[in-house]
Amino acid sequence: MEKAKIFVTHIYLGKYLEKLKDKYEVVIWPGKDIGREDLLSGVKGAVGIISLLTEKIDAEVMDAAGPQLKAIGNYAVGFDNIDVAAATKRGICVTNTPGVLTESVAELVITFTLVLFRRVVEGDRFVRAGKYKGWEPDLLLGTGVKDKVMGIVGLGRIGRWTARMARALGMRVVYHNRHRDEEFEEEYDVTYHTLDQLLEMADVVSLSVPLNLETKHLISERELKLMKPTAVLINTARGPIVDEKALIKALKEKWIAGAGLDVYEDEAQVPEELRNLSNTVLTPHTASATIEARIAMARIVVDNMADAIEDKQPSCLVNPDVWKQKID
Ligand code: GLV
Ligand code: GLV
Repeated sequence: MEKAKIFVTHIYLGKYLEKLKDKYEVVIWPGKDIGREDLLSGVKGAVGIISLLTEKIDAEVMDAAGPQLKAIGNYAVGFDNIDVAAATKRGICVTNTPGVLTESVAELVITFTLVLFRRVVEGDRFVRAGKYKGWEPDLLLGTGVKDKVMGIVGLGRIGRWTARMARALGMRVVYHNRHRDEEFEEEYDVTYHTLDQLLEMADVVSLSVPLNLETKHLISERELKLMKPTAVLINTARGPIVDEKALIKALKEKWIAGAGLDVYEDEAQVPEELRNLSNTVLTPHTASATIEARIAMARIVVDNMADAIEDKQPSCLVNPDVWKQKID
């Protein structure tokens, strides 16, 4: 019998797919940036697609694959690149990789916090430019983080781990979330506030919500104006959660003190204005880029793909409705 095909959109993942190769014909796109046409032809006849967050997996891709398509395994925790409703309608399982990149992403939030408050990147540029001529009492004065307020927007796994680390640094922690978690509040001494209250009181505003219709431009001009002029904004979630034009204005006009950004509104475009500002620290969507996270993400994708194809409920199913349809 011919082996069923799994199409993988990026060469990097090839080394992690041994477990699938025994049973399936694993077809790996041999390059890095698969174009739309190659994606549409590559998925043809596949029962499974392993995709990256940079690829738009919409109804057209699903239909190009064909009616045998059973699963889409996204190599990311975020899945805003996938038309989940279209998948559910077609009976296709969509899976993501939660839980294993939590610490990696939260660590970058804390890194941004410290790097911004202590002006590490500015200091590095200063030294490299040969400007360091000797100790001065007011050279590159920053601020400490102890007793400052960490404001976490979105208390999921990443938000929680960020809260715990921030508490360990002696910060006060406030959060906003769709649901309150009173047990967590008590255990870690964190307090719940409305988004507006949080923006007004936080010294660091860190975003850890998924991108969806409700969170697009959650932070725009009005919200940036509510923030303190000494506060910084950190976005390790998804670019479009922040209105980037408004953010540039806020940074230029000093409504806020700085920003740590790992994601951008139209990746991989990073506006020159953002790059030219000295009060930004910018990373190339690498919040989950630790070896530990990448390996664990691959393991989850592989296990979920195998389960979905073999009609076992995958543990990281993002559209459980699809499973109810199967059972009904
Ligand atoms: C990274 O951005 C992810 O969603 O895993
Ligand atoms: C993502 O893993 C989150 O729940 O924050």
